[in-house]
Amino acid sequence: MGKCTTITNYPHILHGADYNPDQWMEHPEIIEEDMRMMKLAGCNVMSIGIFAWATLEPEEGRYDFSFLDFIMDKLNENGIKAILATPSGARPAWMAKKYPEVLRVNEMRQRNLFGARHNHCYTSPVYQQKTAEINRRLAERYKNHPALLMWHISNEYGGECHCPLCQAAFREWLKEKYHNDLDELNYQWWTKFWSHTYTDWEQIESPSPIGEMKLHGLTLDWKRFVTYQTGKFIENEIAPLREITPDVPVTTNFMRFFDGLDYFKLCKLIDVVSWDSYPEWHRSEGCVEAAQTTAIMHDMHRSMKGQPFMLMESTPSLPNWHEINKLKRPGMHILSSIQAVAHGSDTVQYFQWRKSRGSSEKFHGAVVDHCGHENTRVFREVAQLGEILGKLDEVAGTFTPAEAAIIFDWENWWALDSAECLELHNKRYIEAIHRHYAPFWEMSVNVDVIDSETNFSKYKLIIAPMLYMAKPGVEEKIERFVAGGGTFVSTYFSGVVNENDLCYLGGTPCGKLKEVFGIWAEEIDTLYPEENNSVTFNGKEYTAEHFCELIHANEAETLGKYDSDFYKGMSAVTKNTYGKGAAYYIAFCDDGAFTKDFYSRLIKDLKIGRALEADLPYGVTAHVREENGQRFVFVGNYNDEPAELELGDTKYFDVTNGNEIFGMVQLDGYGVKILKAE
Ligand code: GLA
Ligand code: ZN
Repeated sequence: MGKCTTITNYPHILHGADYNPDQWMEHPEIIEEDMRMMKLAGCNVMSIGIFAWATLEPEEGRYDFSFLDFIMDKLNENGIKAILATPSGARPAWMAKKYPEVLRVNEMRQRNLFGARHNHCYTSPVYQQKTAEINRRLAERYKNHPALLMWHISNEYGGECHCPLCQAAFREWLKEKYHNDLDELNYQWWTKFWSHTYTDWEQIESPSPIGEMKLHGLTLDWKRFVTYQTGKFIENEIAPLREITPDVPVTTNFMRFFDGLDYFKLCKLIDVVSWDSYPEWHRSEGCVEAAQTTAIMHDMHRSMKGQPFMLMESTPSLPNWHEINKLKRPGMHILSSIQAVAHGSDTVQYFQWRKSRGSSEKFHGAVVDHCGHENTRVFREVAQLGEILGKLDEVAGTFTPAEAAIIFDWENWWALDSAECLELHNKRYIEAIHRHYAPFWEMSVNVDVIDSETNFSKYKLIIAPMLYMAKPGVEEKIERFVAGGGTFVSTYFSGVVNENDLCYLGGTPCGKLKEVFGIWAEEIDTLYPEENNSVTFNGKEYTAEHFCELIHANEAETLGKYDSDFYKGMSAVTKNTYGKGAAYYIAFCDDGAFTKDFYSRLIKDLKIGRALEADLPYGVTAHVREENGQRFVFVGNYNDEPAELELGDTKYFDVTNGNEIFGMVQLDGYGVKILKAE
């Protein structure tokens, strides 16, 4: 792949924040100070207008762009680019009053009052029309403005509406999906159970605690519909922008593993993926768990489009909505920001530039505190980071090579969560993703996080923890991947249901997968939290907890066996050579020790590329980005104590100061190094 122009056509790493000058227009001196301090902090971008609808359209049809005109010009005069938002994340009070249909109806069928944000119906024709109209005006007004860098549509789309308009749209969506065949819907939802058969489309309602919650096919289709309907709304928002400013890229900010929307579907509608990251740093000793969780998120948002992504929001100091709002310790801001870049982000952005004076986010961390000046610990660290990012122009637009991928699939997650079995309220799916990811982080291996619909062909190794739902085509994809020489790892409770949550008949894992893995899974045991079993693998004993599946190795070779209980001696880890590749099956849930050993061996056996070959101390990791033979290695120490690592004879340059660096290297507590290979 050739050197791409960057995701935003701007040849620098972006550094900036959500900026809400509409809250400060009575204070022109504050706006002037903002411009001075933005430059001082090394900021080159601001996201503006995110919640500005009431200022931009104070009365229906009366538009007032004076504040945006002023700010766009100001930013431009100061060499700062604008990520211009469309304001649909919150609507003005006049609109809610005049058109109650724009307000959301909750699952209890109560219409919300005006208030909060994200409180709107995505189906409402009025809301769609109003949104398209203001977006058109924004695009017309700023299409040639030199500050306009990209569009930030709405803000953190999310939530669902159960109003009559949405119910009707849901029924239409179902009619299309089931080809107008109600019998087919009844079959796929298995409605004969408890006599829930529908005899008219009008009888179908979205899931509700006062109605239907037990038809898993309905629950699943409703969630799919919510993603679809949100996507329709997104398309409606984007249409005027694409028409008027076809060259300006569009993003919207996602929110990690957000249960409400399948981001692998929505990412197809936008040009650049961005997300908002608020980890609980310093929660566990050394921050390793938070670092790994965040790394998974970065990898997933990058993998969605296989190109650099944007860290759209993060806090320079602390959030205000965590249960415990702890300050980032000195060093952590730089480390966590460079972590995003290490995993493929071309931006470091914050919520928020300046703390608002009132309302719900007045104590949320910001670059500029209420004191109003730059002589603060937080500002200094932001400015120091700005200086570092200013030296990373060469990194902007580079790719993240990955030979291994982990499957995280939203529909699988939804189906698993609604399944009434195992540990009723905790299927531990996210934990499983984390557990299978951690060894790669520890060994400095880049990993993509993909869904089961992604193309598998570029990977050497694919891991699918708890792939409960095998959607159409997935079985064949896995078979082709392994037959063609790939290595595939799956676990307990895989290949159990089809895309409508109907159990596969004929044993699990479904169909052809029994041959690919060379096993049959007969039963699954759930342990009480205080219990465990163990598995012996390679002569070592490993803890088995929560879930132990009872499998029969047919063609597969048994690598590990259960040590106790009535299934003592049964296979717990298997390997099946199939075609030119291999398929491993891990039948039990481990506590992290097994996966660590299992994958470190696999990484070596399969010669999967690592950012650094050295064994790194606990809590230290490295990730790599590269392009046209240039290779950047980002090393981070998530311990509060200094750490040492051995770079060997390979010579690197420290990008921040140009010094040559090799041999034994010291990292401060929460220290980071950005190395360029010679
Ligand atoms: C979200 C929102 C922001 C702000 C932050 C606070 O990410 O997008 O508007 O509320 O949370 O952390
Ligand atoms: Zn609605």
